[in-house]
Amino acid sequence: MKHLVAPSVLAADFGNLQRDIEMVNTSEADWFHVDIMDGVFVPNISFGFPVLEALSKHAKKPLDVHLMIVDPDRYLSQFKKAGAATITVHYEACTHLHRTVQAIKDLGCIAGVALNPHTPVSVLDDIIEDIDMVLIMSVNPGFGGQKFIQNTYRKIRTLKAMASGRNENLLIEIDGGVNSENAPLLLKAGANVLVAGNFVFSAAEPQKIISGLKAVPHNLMQV
Ligand code: DX5
Ligand code: ZN
Repeated sequence: MKHLVAPSVLAADFGNLQRDIEMVNTSEADWFHVDIMDGVFVPNISFGFPVLEALSKHAKKPLDVHLMIVDPDRYLSQFKKAGAATITVHYEACTHLHRTVQAIKDLGCIAGVALNPHTPVSVLDDIIEDIDMVLIMSVNPGFGGQKFIQNTYRKIRTLKAMASGRNENLLIEIDGGVNSENAPLLLKAGANVLVAGNFVFSAAEPQKIISGLKAVPHNLMQV
């Protein structure tokens, strides 16, 4: 499949949110990536339902909701109601992950599971057939603008091998420090969804950055 690009709203200008939403609407981006942080699972608080609903009202592309919160089960249906197309929960925040994934699917959403940098992809071996997407954190969750962790490539390759023959349509999303230098290598390793926050929103011409990420070829030789 052609890979997807999901600009992370966390890096948008919240004083000019509608302008930044329009920028994404009229760009080649595929999804809006929306980071929800609760100040407990991660050492930062982002925003909640009022902002998500406002975003949903103006966004013309699906909302890819990344929950960095403890006990996400309590809020799944509320996120669906607020406009989420995908809901990704953290492996580290879910005691009954299988149940949580089924609940997301029952809502009609794409079900994603996120892994922190220290969490091996092998923990998903017994649930890989049941999930639609794995989000590999390529920075520690909580903040935008951090440095990309190199071990991510190895994790993508391991995950790709694990999903082979068992979940060929698995979406592999990379979140944190993505830019035009690592994007070709991430796609080459097997990623098919790229999240980018600061790389897009701090650029003078963000739509060109998005187009550039969309145009990255998949067939580069491994460097
Ligand atoms: C980090 C968030 C990311 C973040 C990415 O906890 O999950 O989605 O917004 O931002 P950049 O691309 O700036 O690292
Ligand atoms: Zn995210």
